Amino acid sequence: MKRILLISIVLIFVSQFSYSQKKIWNETETEKTERLSWWTEARFGMFIHWGSYAQAARHEWVKKRERISDEEYQKYFEIFNPDLFDPAEWAKKAKAAGMKYAVITTKHHEGFNMFKSEYTDYNVTNTPYGKDIIKEWVDAFRAEGLGIGFYYSLIDWHHPEYTIDRVHPQSVRTQEEYDELNKNRDMSIYREYLKNQVREILTNYGKVDILWLDYSFPGKFGKDRDDWGSVELMKMVRKLQPEILVNDRADLKDYQGGWDFTTPEQFKVQSWPEIDGEKIPWETCQTFSGSWGYYRDEHTWKDNKQLLVLLIESVSKGGNVLLNVGPTARGTFDQRADKALKEMGEWMKYNSRSIYGCTQASEEFEAPDHTLLTYNPKTNRLYIHLLDYPMKNFLLRGFGDKVKYAQFLHDASEINIGKPYGHWVQQETGENDINLLLPVNKPNVEIPVIELFLK
Ligand code: GLC
Repeated sequence: MKRILLISIVLIFVSQFSYSQKKIWNETETEKTERLSWWTEARFGMFIHWGSYAQAARHEWVKKRERISDEEYQKYFEIFNPDLFDPAEWAKKAKAAGMKYAVITTKHHEGFNMFKSEYTDYNVTNTPYGKDIIKEWVDAFRAEGLGIGFYYSLIDWHHPEYTIDRVHPQSVRTQEEYDELNKNRDMSIYREYLKNQVREILTNYGKVDILWLDYSFPGKFGKDRDDWGSVELMKMVRKLQPEILVNDRADLKDYQGGWDFTTPEQFKVQSWPEIDGEKIPWETCQTFSGSWGYYRDEHTWKDNKQLLVLLIESVSKGGNVLLNVGPTARGTFDQRADKALKEMGEWMKYNSRSIYGCTQASEEFEAPDHTLLTYNPKTNRLYIHLLDYPMKNFLLRGFGDKVKYAQFLHDASEINIGKPYGHWVQQETGENDINLLLPVNKPNVEIPVIELFLK
């Protein structure tokens, strides 16, 4: 009797649980891993923030920051004409930097569309430029074999039916003030508009590899999935592009199929992000400087080593990097971005084997001081990135029975393996420790990489 009671309690619990599991679609974990595999192997992509704010050249949030009205902001629309735009050149630069995919803003918070939309006149084809930038961009990036991603802003500071909220240029303080401002706005009309536009970008440009929706901010005077209609939206997305990868900003974290990867923004994670103890796919999005859109007078640009460490460290924790360029209103990358990309490309040319297809190394390998480890499970090779170049003797603790061969990655030159070494002072070492005999002079590589062939 007791047993029957227990079984029925368990059954009720299980049925309740599966009932409460919210689903956008059905997919097993293995299927998901498979769908994401091109992206987890790629590891490195280019983000592109480009819109009419490039003309203000002082942050893509300029409309909000300076509380600019639609009338005043209209001047950017009227003169938008990036005469030097050459997407083939952009694509070549991305590829030369070692990037495998790119995500461009089809519309940012300002509400201006870089693509031809049937649902508004506020799009690029009605500016002096007159052509569909997204179309030109997609063709060029695809031609270079790069994955194609669309950023689309859920937030919209131009649409007349979008209700004013706390991140809007016309934000106010009290509920009464919001009620007054929003009394003639109907968010359901905007919701439809947004769905129509997402349908457009996922229908008019062939296969799209990534959709990057930005962003939800639930709570007081905020917006969440009900405002966007995220569940319906995501069902449509999955139907239109079943292989697409979607980020996690539509407020659907508790829905199966509501998102594919998480998006730590402008910071380095301490460790591989998890949900309920499970490691999840992740991609950090980062800028070269303090702004996403072109910002002429912003000077906090990260240097080459910082950028390389960002990439290597992300891979060493199982993640991707989406590194942003904010092109100018002429349609070019500014010199600082060009320089940064070129330097990364020089390193990637010789060292990308420690990035592509790599991930976190198993815990059995203890990273020596000032190093980062990555591991390629397919080739069974381990990569030691020397952030601070050591001297001749480089001790690897507990690696002895695991290493078959060692070489520098950039020039495939052998590194001899010896016994732990001490002169006058003997350090405590274990049976299984080995000593790599490195050249005293640092090779001419920003961050040299040792490639270990494992047994
Ligand atoms: C933030 C900002 C936005 C930028 C995005 C990139 O959400 O609102 O300007 O596009 O981060 O992740």
